[in-house]
Parts: sequence; structure tokens; C-alpha cells
Amino acid sequence: MFEHLPTKRRNILRWLLAGGITAFIAPFAYAIGKFLAFQGAFAGSKTAKLSAAELTPDSPSKLVEIEGEPVIVVREGDNSIRAFTATCTHLGCIVSFKPQIPGFYCKCHSGKYDVNGVNVPGTRPKSPLTELVVNQQADDLEVSLTPKNSAA
Ligand code: FES
Repeated sequence: MFEHLPTKRRNILRWLLAGGITAFIAPFAYAIGKFLAFQGAFAGSKTAKLSAAELTPDSPSKLVEIEGEPVIVVREGDNSIRAFTATCTHLGCIVSFKPQIPGFYCKCHSGKYDVNGVNVPGTRPKSPLTELVVNQQADDLEVSLTPKNSAA
């Protein structure tokens, strides 16, 4: 296409052409990716894998996502590791773990749950968080959406 031009100009034109094509295709690729993500084509994994070492006394909880569901994994004072659904049962905000309560806190309407995920009477949530199964092999944790009570 550019064979009649000197090599340097030819290379510049090729780069400009490649950049123009990339700039033209990129928005379509982005839109298709967003559409597939919305359709669940890239839906999250069925489990979340993390290391117990990620849960430290200074940072005893971690928010993960399993199949699009927010889950909070917590290292408690006795070093046991538990996981709970992180969606507040009041109106669906995401709860955080607060060792000073101790338990879970929802900032949307000051909702509180104890360390077992049970809603504290007098606060907005009227039902508990669901505790989930955590499989631990040494330092490796695997959390699924399986409720702990139904797995027993
Ligand atoms: S959404 Fe959590 S207390 Fe209202």
C-alpha cells in the first residue's frame, strides 16, 4: 500500500493506520465485553480462594465475591475463620466487620449483627446474615455460597 514511499514514512503511515484501526475497534470490543459481563458470561467463580494470612489482627476481614454475591471472610479473636453473606438483610447494603462492636455493621442505616451474623434487636435488620462453609487446608481458604447449617 505504501511501497512507493520511503521506508521511514512508510513505517509511520503503517503505525498511524494500525492506531486508527485500533481506535476504531476498541469501543466496539469494550461494548461487547460489557454486554457479555452483564449477561453473566464472565460470572464469578463458584468459590473464593484466599490465604488465611490475608486476615491479620489489623485487618481481620476481607470482602470477596462469589458468583456475584458479596461475601465477608473474618478471622475472629480465637483465630477461627468464618464467612458470611455480606449483603445487609435490611435493604441490601454491604456490611463490614467491626471487631470493636464486635460483629458486623451496616453503615446505610446503622444496622448491627453480632459475631454470629445474628441481627441485633433494635437495629434495622430483622434477619441474620447467612454463615457460609469455609474449607481450610493449612493456610489456604476456600469459601463457597453453601450455607454452613445446610452443609452439616
Ligand atoms: S441496608 Fe443495612 S441497615 Fe439498612
